[in-house]
Amino acid sequence: MGRLDDKVAVVTGAGRGIGREVALLMASEGAKIVVNDLGGNMDGTGTGKIADDVVNEIRAMGGQAVSNIESVASVAGGESMLKTALDAFGAMDILINNAGILRDKTIYNMEESDWDAVQAVHLKGHYCCSRPFARYIRENNRTGCRIINFSSVSGLYGNFGQANYGAAKAGIAGFSRVLAIELAKYGCTVNTISPGALTRMTIALREGRGQQVSDADIEAGGPQHIAPIVTWLTTPEAAGITSEIFHTGRGSVAIMQQPRVIKQFHKAGGVWSLDDLDRYVPQLIAARKANIAAADETGKAIQV
Ligand SMILES: NC(=O)c1ccc[n+]([C@@H]2O[C@H](COP(=O)([O-])OP(=O)(O)OC[C@H]3O[C@@H](n4cnc5c(N)ncnc54)[C@H](O)[C@@H]3O)[C@@H](O)[C@H]2O)c1
Repeated sequence: MGRLDDKVAVVTGAGRGIGREVALLMASEGAKIVVNDLGGNMDGTGTGKIADDVVNEIRAMGGQAVSNIESVASVAGGESMLKTALDAFGAMDILINNAGILRDKTIYNMEESDWDAVQAVHLKGHYCCSRPFARYIRENNRTGCRIINFSSVSGLYGNFGQANYGAAKAGIAGFSRVLAIELAKYGCTVNTISPGALTRMTIALREGRGQQVSDADIEAGGPQHIAPIVTWLTTPEAAGITSEIFHTGRGSVAIMQQPRVIKQFHKAGGVWSLDDLDRYVPQLIAARKANIAAADETGKAIQV
């Protein structure tokens, strides 16, 4: 018996990398999988039939899977994934919004097309796949569903040369918080993953810096390290865990802070003067630094 027996999952961008590992692990737990991937290049150009390879891998291990090669970047694509799930398996319970591309450039060199392409796949792609699923949940009063979204430290912390990607990934964290509220009525949880894994996305960056990536590196930090927490969050054991951001990779699983007010001053009945702010803003900055230092301390890895 698997933890996901009778569940139907759509995994976007599952032809390789993190999505493929998630699809394989979920299938090994009994889920029926729609393997979505348009099989393009890392910059979002081109197409290929890689989704079928993962379908064949799942079938070879005794699981059930079908492919879908539509783009996540249109609502029609998202609707086709739901339709593929319904036609093949009669239901949909889980959506893993994993598909992604990169077009790294500094703001000085970033063309409008680089900005638009990255927003289309990441931020709009999350909307395009989630909306049909959310409507299906509401129309069928289907309870206990799961959505897992993919953010990144690029947006949550910031990273040089990724204004398009970082903006989309920070947007995805906000999107998740809203969806978690809107779908709570149906017991559907919505969580966000901030992964770190050696895939074609990150291997290319490393190699660009002149660093070689060995098989041992992949074993220590490959996409197989991301799949367990993603899969666990889709199981019945994760009921009620929603609107969280889990950071994971290289054998670690962590939970991230979310935006909160950590210190505030209130001036009764008055508008702040600039002189007031000379006095109080440094205290806010000091509170923020103390908060970072405390999180850095509690966030150190505990060996288990
Ligand atoms: N690898 C990391 O360290 C890392 C870090 C932070 C975030 N992420 C995020 O994790 C997710 C998976 O990344 P990965 O490292 O496995 O990358 P990857 O390039 O190995 O896989 C991404 C897959 O998405 C597919 N895809 C791209 N555009 C698509 C579209 N429009 N429709 C359908 N499929 C499409 C690609 O064909 C590819 O197979 C992405 O959202 C990425 O931004 C990865």
